[in-house]
Amino acid sequence: MANVIVIGTQWGDEGKGKITDLLSRSADVVVRYQGGINAGHTVVVNDRTFKLHLIPSGILYPHVDCIIGSGTVVDPEVLIEELDALEAMGVSTSRLYIAETAHVTMPYHRSIDIAAEAQRAEHRLGTTGRGIGPTYADKSERTGIRIVDMMENDTRGAVFRWAIAQKNRILEKLYNLPPLDPEATIAQYAGYAERLRPHIIDASLKIDEAIRHRRNILFEGAQGTLLDLDHGTYPYVTSSNPVAGGACIGAGIGPTMVDRIIGVAKAYVTRVGEGPFPTELQDGVGQLLGQRGAEFGTTTGRPRRCGWFDGVIGRYAVRINGLDCLAVTKLDVLDELPEIKVCVAYELDGQVIRDFPSNARTFARCRPVYETLPGWQQSTQHCTSLAELPATARKYLQFLSDLLEVPIAIVSLGASRGQTIIVEDPIHGPKRGLLERQREAS
Ligand code: GDP
Ligand code: IMO
Ligand code: MG
Repeated sequence: MANVIVIGTQWGDEGKGKITDLLSRSADVVVRYQGGINAGHTVVVNDRTFKLHLIPSGILYPHVDCIIGSGTVVDPEVLIEELDALEAMGVSTSRLYIAETAHVTMPYHRSIDIAAEAQRAEHRLGTTGRGIGPTYADKSERTGIRIVDMMENDTRGAVFRWAIAQKNRILEKLYNLPPLDPEATIAQYAGYAERLRPHIIDASLKIDEAIRHRRNILFEGAQGTLLDLDHGTYPYVTSSNPVAGGACIGAGIGPTMVDRIIGVAKAYVTRVGEGPFPTELQDGVGQLLGQRGAEFGTTTGRPRRCGWFDGVIGRYAVRINGLDCLAVTKLDVLDELPEIKVCVAYELDGQVIRDFPSNARTFARCRPVYETLPGWQQSTQHCTSLAELPATARKYLQFLSDLLEVPIAIVSLGASRGQTIIVEDPIHGPKRGLLERQREAS
C-alpha cells in the first residue's frame, strides 16, 4: 500500500498527465485535489490522445476509482462535456466521483475573469479565462456556490438567486456587461445536477475508506509549484495550491497518510501566461524546443514560452514539496541540440545566489548563471533503459539529479506509455526524501 502525490515542479505542463496515467496501472484510486478546467493533462494511449481538464488521469483504467476532490473548482458544463467525450471514446466514467464540497464555477466567474484581465491591461496575468480566480475568490470570501448547493432541489433557487443578484451588480456596474438571467441559470444548473447526481459523494470519506482498505492512492496535482498561490511567482500564479501540501487540504486527508511525493520536471522549462521566467529563450533554440515539444497550451492553445532547465526553481520545488524523486519528461525534445545549458544559480545585483528569492520583484531581476553540457544529437525516443541512452544524455540526467539533490526515478522520452524508462520503482523503491537521504549519509 502506498499513497503517492504527483506534482509539477515548474510552471505546469510538465507531463503530469502522462506520469499519472503510467502510475495508475498499479493504483486503485486517483484523486485530483486542486485547480479546475485551467488544467490540461494529456494522455496518449496507442494512437489515441485524451485531453483531460478535470477528470483524473487514472480514468483510462477500468479498475481505478477517480475522485475530483474538495479543493478543486468544478465547471459542471465542461465536466459534462468531458464525461460525454470520454464515453464517446469508449471510456467508462461510472467510477468517477465528485466531492460535494467542491466549489462550482458559474458563468459570471468566467465573465469576470475575462473582463478583469482586459481591465488589467499591461498588468494582466495571462489567465486561462476559465473563471478559476473568481471561483476561488468567492470560496475565500465565503460567497461561493458548492456542489451540494447545486444538488439540493429545495434550496438551489434561493442560493442561486442571491448569488446571481450580487454578481449582476458587479457585471453591470464594474464591467459594463449584461446581467445573468437568474431563472434560466437555475434551470440550467438543475439540469447539470441531475446529470452529475450519480457521481456526487463525500470525497474525504471515500478516500478514508480506501486508506483503511490499504488501497493504493495517487494524488494528481494540476498546474505546478511556481504557479502556487502561496509559494509561486505571485501574482503570476493560479488561485489554488498545486504543491504537495495542497493534496492534504484538497483531498481531505492528514499529512501522515502520504508515503511518497514524486515531482514531474520537464528536461527544459515552459511557461504559459505572463510573469518572470529567467531562463526563457527568445531565439532559435526556444523556437526549436517549442516545435519539437509541441508546446501549445492544452486548454487555450496559446504558445508556451520555452527556456533552459532552471536548477534554482528545481531545488526550490524539491524543498517546497519535500520530493522523494523526480520524473524527468520530454528528454527526447533535446535530442538534436549540440549543447544544452542548465541554470545552476542566478546573478542578482552582481552577486551569485543559489536559492529561489521569495520576493517576486527580486526574482524578476535575476539573470541565469549557466553551465553548458554537451548534447547527444541522436534520437532517444526508442530507448528503454538507461544503458541504451547516449552517455551524454545519462550525464545530463545525472547533472540534474546532483543539482537538485534528488534521485530520478522515471525518464520519459515520448508521449506514449511505452516511451518511458523506469530507473527505480518510484512507489515501492526505497523512500528517498531529504530526511532519509540525510540519515543514509550520516
Ligand atoms: P500536464 O499538464 O503536466 O499533464 O502536461 P500537458 O499534457 O499539458 O503537456 C505535456 C505534453 O507533452 C503533452 O502533449 C504530452 O503528450 C507530451 N509529453 C509528455 N511526456 C512527453 C515526453 O517525454 N516526450 C514528448 N515528446 N512529449 C511528451
Ligand atoms: P496544467 O495542470 C500551465 C497558468 C495560466 C496563467 C496562470 C493563472 O495543465 O499544468 P488561471 O486560469 O489559473 O487563473 O491562470 O496560471 N496556468 C497554467 N499553466 N499549465 C496549467 O495547468 C495551468 N493552469 C493555469 O496560463 O499564467
Ligand atoms: Mg497541461
